Amino acid sequence: MDTPFSTLIRTASHEQHTEAETSSFMGDLLGGRLGVDAYARYTEQLWFVYRALEEGAEALREDPVAGPFVQPELFRTAALERDLAHLRGPDWRDGLSPLPATTAYAERVAECAREWPGGYVAHHYTRYLGDLSGGQIIRDKAERTWGFARKGDGVRFYVFEGISNPAAFKRAYRELLDGVKADDLEKQRIIDECKRAFDFNSAVFHQLGGEFPLSA
Ligand code: HEM
Repeated sequence: MDTPFSTLIRTASHEQHTEAETSSFMGDLLGGRLGVDAYARYTEQLWFVYRALEEGAEALREDPVAGPFVQPELFRTAALERDLAHLRGPDWRDGLSPLPATTAYAERVAECAREWPGGYVAHHYTRYLGDLSGGQIIRDKAERTWGFARKGDGVRFYVFEGISNPAAFKRAYRELLDGVKADDLEKQRIIDECKRAFDFNSAVFHQLGGEFPLSA
């Protein structure tokens, strides 16, 4: 296989990326048609997913497949907790509840972290490379729509303080993907899991759309 793995995984998920990007919930959110409550509810869902990703990371640090991807400058849980304290107040944990799709997503991430490092890489890629890319568009919109301070409380999730050059970081990340210790069959399984990760994200958007049904 001559095509670099980073190209294969990006190409394979391209269609689903467009689907996620153009979901009605995302469209309404980015179109400024939803209140800050919808944004907060979405941020809560992210907290469950990142908790699973980052609780699982510690045990994978030395793993030959997933270990190279575990980079603390990516960790988002602390930033999400600051955002949630700003959005929901100091007792933000009290009213916190995952949507069924979020529970399924976080459980699958945790399962991969425990049992299948290659699958963990698929979830890692789908979230963090997306946050470093389109996440910046979401941050800009959120700041304008709900008046958060630029790169401040409410949008810290989208601000990677430890990454000064996101473009260079993404290049290095793609090199990690290209060098992942997996044979062609395992690479295909990782791509399939990436598609599954996109499905989980779409399902979360769908359920959020059900709670905030503007486009319906
Ligand atoms: C409205 C929402 C979204 C917007 C506006 C958006 C936008 C973008 C843009 C512009 C890029 C290209 C960056 C580049 O070429 O360097 C990108 C890449 C990416 N996005 Fe999104 N995105 C959105 C939602 C999502 C979602 C929901 C996911 C999955 C959880 C996701 C995952 C990714 C991934 C994995 C990449 C990296 C592709 C690669 O270069 O390998 N995005 N996004």
